[in-house]
Amino acid sequence: MEKTQQQILRHHGGDGEHARQMITQTYERRHDTDFWEFWNEQMAPVISHGDCLLDLGAGTGQFVSDLALRYPHNSALGIDAADYMLVAQEALPENGRMVKGDLNEPQVNIEDGRVGVAMASMLVHELPQPINLFKAVYKWLKPGGRFCIIDLVRRPLAEYLEHKFPDGQLFKTDVERDEMEDVFEHFLEHNRYHADDILYMLKGVGFTVIENTPQRDGRFVRIVVEK
Ligand SMILES: C[S@@+](CC[C@H](N)C(=O)[O-])C[C@H]1O[C@@H](n2cnc3c(N)ncnc32)[C@H](O)[C@@H]1O
Repeated sequence: MEKTQQQILRHHGGDGEHARQMITQTYERRHDTDFWEFWNEQMAPVISHGDCLLDLGAGTGQFVSDLALRYPHNSALGIDAADYMLVAQEALPENGRMVKGDLNEPQVNIEDGRVGVAMASMLVHELPQPINLFKAVYKWLKPGGRFCIIDLVRRPLAEYLEHKFPDGQLFKTDVERDEMEDVFEHFLEHNRYHADDILYMLKGVGFTVIENTPQRDGRFVRIVVEK
């Protein structure tokens, strides 16, 4: 757990509070009407009363709270490893719960086949390897259960830099060494996988692909797979 916590903090630029702020502030925008339309079409139909609804890398539990409120006949469970996320936990409805767990080596006590749907939003690029998690999710899901991954995917350096420094500002202005090094380090971390790499791992574990949709000019992907 300690090693994972250090990895996460390093990925979050050494400033956990700032990372928490960024993620909580962008939550509503990322979970807008389009998102819930998608959810209702692709994820909701496979949820049955009593299924556990799982959020992996749940941050402060915003999505867990939404799930618990939308599905009063189900339990919603969020897992996160970072103390700076867990200390700022949302007040959750009775059927919502957050637990501390390391998804690099999932040991959370979930009965096999108990989970109806699982979500991993902006998590996979933060893991040194996602295979252990994908195997665990496959075990936890019921047959016909679905797993949704939303994450950053690989793209060319030019596009990445143009998004960070629009209109060629990187070349036209003086950018501090620290800022520049930070951007280049994040380029590596945020460009870890092509969507096909994620699909390759998911299929290897046994999942069937339901959806593979580029998002936000191809900077992100939304993948849905089924057990
Ligand atoms: C970018 S945040 C996304 C939070 C939330 N899913 C959202 O979309 O608003 C990624 C989260 O994954 C958590 N995380 C990263 N690696 C983890 C691991 N190995 N085990 C558990 N949580 C992890 C981080 O602590 C962080 O809260």
